[in-house]
Amino acid sequence: MTSGLHVACIMDGNGRWAEHRGLPRTAGHTEGEENLARIVRVAVRRDIGWLTVFGFSTENWVRPRGEVRHILGLHERLFGRVRELNELNVRIQWIGRPFDSAEARTPKYVQRAIRKAIHDTATNTGMVLTVAFDYGGRAELMSAVRAARASGEPVTPETIGTHLYLPELPPVDVLVRTSGERRVSNFLLWQSAGAKIHFSEAPWPDFDERELDAALALVR
Ligand code: IPE
Ligand code: IPE
Ligand code: MG
Repeated sequence: MTSGLHVACIMDGNGRWAEHRGLPRTAGHTEGEENLARIVRVAVRRDIGWLTVFGFSTENWVRPRGEVRHILGLHERLFGRVRELNELNVRIQWIGRPFDSAEARTPKYVQRAIRKAIHDTATNTGMVLTVAFDYGGRAELMSAVRAARASGEPVTPETIGTHLYLPELPPVDVLVRTSGERRVSNFLLWQSAGAKIHFSEAPWPDFDERELDAALALVR
């Protein structure tokens, strides 16, 4: 059994990490995906129950097409890491605009990778890794309120909670934002109501074990 601790990370600064090295921004995203794999291993060792990461927001689609395509490919790779996840006993989930909703923008090939990864790790009992892709907190809250109203329920914190994209996601204990930015940027607005916040100066590709421990010190 893992602890019930929920850590959520806004993985920012991939572009700046690359620019500081004279590399294209896409190289920063590639390194960011590698670092996520490293941080997942550390999080498992630290007995974190829930790790939720912001991979791509509803606002990020306006980025240059080549950059978006690269990030899509990296999510296909991330959700393809099934063997690693199974070795770590990690169950992967996804949070974002439901594929069948009118506003959803996740392309079919990424949808397939997401579905397969969820299916192939479904019986793992350790940490739950939730990847936010095509996710926005406001879109999630709008859809929860609409669903509550459509089912004739009164709109209360409880009914909103049961209509969130992933109702089982527990409240966030620690919210991390990297790369020196101090914004929430539409991430897990409802779930982070009582979260402690750790701001890290490190760009996401450099966010390491020591940084994660500094965030955990806020709650342990
Ligand atoms: C975070 O890094 C990754 C995504 C938002 C997809 P950025 O790409 O935002 O990096 P910076 O903020 O430009 O450095
Ligand atoms: C937040 O990063 C979203 C993700 C990390 C996926 P951004 O770089 O898009 O955030 P803003 O727009 O600068 O706040
Ligand atoms: Mg950014």
